Amino acid sequence: MKVGILQFRPVLGDKSKNLKTIGRFLRRRKFDLAVLPELCSSGYNFSSKEEAFDIADKKGGETFSFIEELAVKTGGAIVWGFPELSRGKLFNSAALTTPEGDHHIYRKTHLFYREKFIFEPGNSGFKVFKWRGVRIGLMICFDWIFPEAARSLAIKKAQIICHPSNLVMEYCQDAHVTRSLENGVFIAMANRSGLEKNRFADLSFSGRSQVTDNRGGRILSYTASEERFGVVKIKPELADIKDVNEFNNLFGDRRVDLYQA
Ligand code: ACM
Repeated sequence: MKVGILQFRPVLGDKSKNLKTIGRFLRRRKFDLAVLPELCSSGYNFSSKEEAFDIADKKGGETFSFIEELAVKTGGAIVWGFPELSRGKLFNSAALTTPEGDHHIYRKTHLFYREKFIFEPGNSGFKVFKWRGVRIGLMICFDWIFPEAARSLAIKKAQIICHPSNLVMEYCQDAHVTRSLENGVFIAMANRSGLEKNRFADLSFSGRSQVTDNRGGRILSYTASEERFGVVKIKPELADIKDVNEFNNLFGDRRVDLYQA
């Protein structure tokens, strides 16, 4: 399976420019699964709920059609982040859009910093979707700091976790070495680069998007500032191996009875 991650600088409030950039990077490329950053259609650093409402996407809307057309054209599935408007509520969401025209949505569980003034906390739970025999889990950015997120997806048998991000801190890239290793899964993390200012805070995004394999090795990694769509080949079935040696198993050896608070 060919997995690609896109790192670029979305422009806050300029959806047509952002979609044009996404199209330019992906259109002529061959991949099975591409992961794009969090809120890649809109930018991130909203000053108000109203600003986010104005640019939000609805399932079935124009942005969904654009990404679906890109999936059809390239033949690959695309995981992308967007502000989702659903029944009058705003979520920080990601969709797995397939060339067959399916859109599977995950809503960010753990909101970061001023997102708490913009979005509702996600209510979808952690979901794993099977596409062409591969089990794909979704989480978004700050979800990474809660090990339960990746663990929940791995327990639900995800082989690859797609992680659209707008990371401002520097720690996730190293944490994913452990998240991959402790869960035996691939993680494709697509971060953004660049700076976004609003009247409350300037946010600088840490880039360094990467793919880690089921043993925690970095098999694709970017610099902090580059804009790039790279692709790496993986064997998702390796994530089904949870044995550490002939006597230990990552999941079989868990002592859930002793993990209660
Ligand atoms: C983040 O959750 N965007 C840091």
